[in-house]
Amino acid sequence: MEARPHQWRSALPACEGKAVIETVLIVAVAENGVIGADGAIPWRLKSDMQHFKALTSGKPIVMGRKTFISLKRPLPHRTNIVITRDANFRSAGAVVTTSMEAARAVARGDALRRSAAEIAVIGGAEIYAQFMDGADRLEITEVHASPPGDTRLAAIDTSKWEEVARERHAAGPDDTAPFSYVTYRRRERAN
Ligand SMILES: NC(=O)c1ccc[n+]([C@@H]2O[C@H](COP(=O)([O-])OP(=O)(O)OC[C@H]3O[C@@H](n4cnc5c(N)ncnc54)[C@H](OP(=O)(O)O)[C@@H]3O)[C@@H](O)[C@H]2O)c1
Repeated sequence: MEARPHQWRSALPACEGKAVIETVLIVAVAENGVIGADGAIPWRLKSDMQHFKALTSGKPIVMGRKTFISLKRPLPHRTNIVITRDANFRSAGAVVTTSMEAARAVARGDALRRSAAEIAVIGGAEIYAQFMDGADRLEITEVHASPPGDTRLAAIDTSKWEEVARERHAAGPDDTAPFSYVTYRRRERAN
């Protein structure tokens, strides 16, 4: 049976004996491309926080040092993998790596240990830009607002990414804007 767009794998499938672990970028972006302001997120969307938790729990999550600092504490029930160029950076509850390649290797090992089918890349802009080319899926929350901000996500290149699911939601009682959950899958890579 063909999978419906929002039913993603929860257990590890294998391809020619090698576990297939997808890399998924998870990001909330406003209509003007803004994802951050002054080291924080310039909206409050409680509904999206629950969606984010559902998408990332039980998985390795990869993030830049600035995003990790903005969280205040490691996110529970996930392996927090932080990328920094500072080899002396330490924080309880985080696995610190000093390159994209190291982060990817640690995340893959963690996914295998957890039998997780995905590595979640959770930002910020510097990290999304570097992981975009190697990603398999994008889970975007489009925030229907245009707040001022200093950190942006580049427009999604629809020649490379196909929209496969979209759900619009009105703002709930603890949300500052309406929003849409949008899933993109990578189109076949040209050889
Ligand atoms: N809307 C959303 O979904 C969302 C999600 C996440 C974050 N955000 C927002 O985005 C903003 C932060 O994003 P950002 O782009 O400024 O920072 P970031 O991507 O979170 O972190 C950047 C840092 O990561 C490290 N880094 C980046 N590339 C590296 C590499 N190749 N090798 C080693 N280390 C590397 C460096 O750390 P060092 O400086 O320590 O060397 C760099 O300063 C905040 O406002 C945050 O709230 C929004």
